[in-house]
Amino acid sequence: MGTQEDIITFNHVTFKYNSDEPLALNDVSFGIPKGQWTSIVGHNGSGKSTIAKLMVGIEKPIDGSIKFYDQIINQQNLDNLRQHIGIVFQNPENQFVGSTVEFDVAFGLENNSVSYDDMQTIVPKALEDVEMLDRADYEPQALSGGQKQRVAIAGVLALDTDVIILDEATSMLDQLVEVN
Ligand SMILES: Nc1ncnc2c1ncn2[C@@H]1O[C@H](COP(=O)(O)OP(=O)(O)OP(=O)(O)O)[C@@H](O)[C@H]1O
Ligand SMILES: [Mg+2]
Repeated sequence: MGTQEDIITFNHVTFKYNSDEPLALNDVSFGIPKGQWTSIVGHNGSGKSTIAKLMVGIEKPIDGSIKFYDQIINQQNLDNLRQHIGIVFQNPENQFVGSTVEFDVAFGLENNSVSYDDMQTIVPKALEDVEMLDRADYEPQALSGGQKQRVAIAGVLALDTDVIILDEATSMLDQLVEVN
């Protein structure tokens, strides 16, 4: 085990949303090993989504630190971090920005200055991977819950990040999609 490299490390992380509320995370430490899927399991309200938000720097620990490889995440390296970590939130509805499925997947690529030519290949491939290519022209609002999750997953697959965080993003899927 000792030889395995962790890609994300939580080191005594403590967090609460508001000063007058109880701690959402209390002295939490763990490592996410590189090159495999890791699941975090816990009851409702136990802090899973909070952990996801801390991993991408949407929230900051009040105590302890979080590392991406050996770099402690801070305000200065946050933009760089977001190039490497993709996230699909629990409610993908809040995540759509494009007017169609296709534009939505392309949006993140545009943000990363991917060329139009490359997009022509990457977007259909990502939609095919989640079996949503036939819905490329649909408005995201016109999809079922599970289909929305698939499109949101396609959006992060397209970005080809080192890490993909799925916050119960597959809860509505009837089968897991094989990704190559
Ligand atoms: N935006 C917020 N503002 C204040 N408190 C919050 C906020 N989001 C979550 N919390 C609180 O933080 C705690 C952890 O919530 P979190 O959403 O991380 O749980 P979870 O494990 O993802 O739960 P679930 O399985 O229901 O998704 C809960 O007590 C919750 O009330
Ligand atoms: Mg949650």
